[in-house]
Amino acid sequence: MASRILVLNGPNLNLLGTREPAVYGSQTLADIESELAPVAQRKNAQVAFFQTNHEGVLIDRVHLARTDGTDFIIINAGAFGHTSIALRDALAAVSLRFIEVHLSNVHRRESFRHRSYLADLAAGTIIGLGAAGYRYALDFALNTAP
Ligand code: DQA
Repeated sequence: MASRILVLNGPNLNLLGTREPAVYGSQTLADIESELAPVAQRKNAQVAFFQTNHEGVLIDRVHLARTDGTDFIIINAGAFGHTSIALRDALAAVSLRFIEVHLSNVHRRESFRHRSYLADLAAGTIIGLGAAGYRYALDFALNTAP
């Protein structure tokens, strides 16, 4: 089981709750984070959270995960998942298992959202299940070997 899990959120996810609620739901990122923390605690695991709107900052945080004890990453890279080969390379470089999450069902949306540069590197992807997707990803991380 993973014991140090890093939850990464990319651009515009700081606006959850007010951003297009019909698409992304009404929960804020803080609401989602506060649901995840006790779930990890009950399993004696630690969960850390990081959100940024900046591609390089997200990449730097992925690099840090190589040495800070992180053993599993849950990532909603937002639009960077559709565009960033650099983020893909960073995740490949650190060799940590990760799950890609998207709140909305990107396959029902514009075609530019159908491509993911992360999906084939991921242990799995959880798409279209709203905030519950983060909980399912955490559950997987907590219940499977790193
Ligand atoms: C998203 C889907 C992306 O296409 C979009 O750019 C986001 C949010 C999601 O969680 O549904 O910012 O990652």
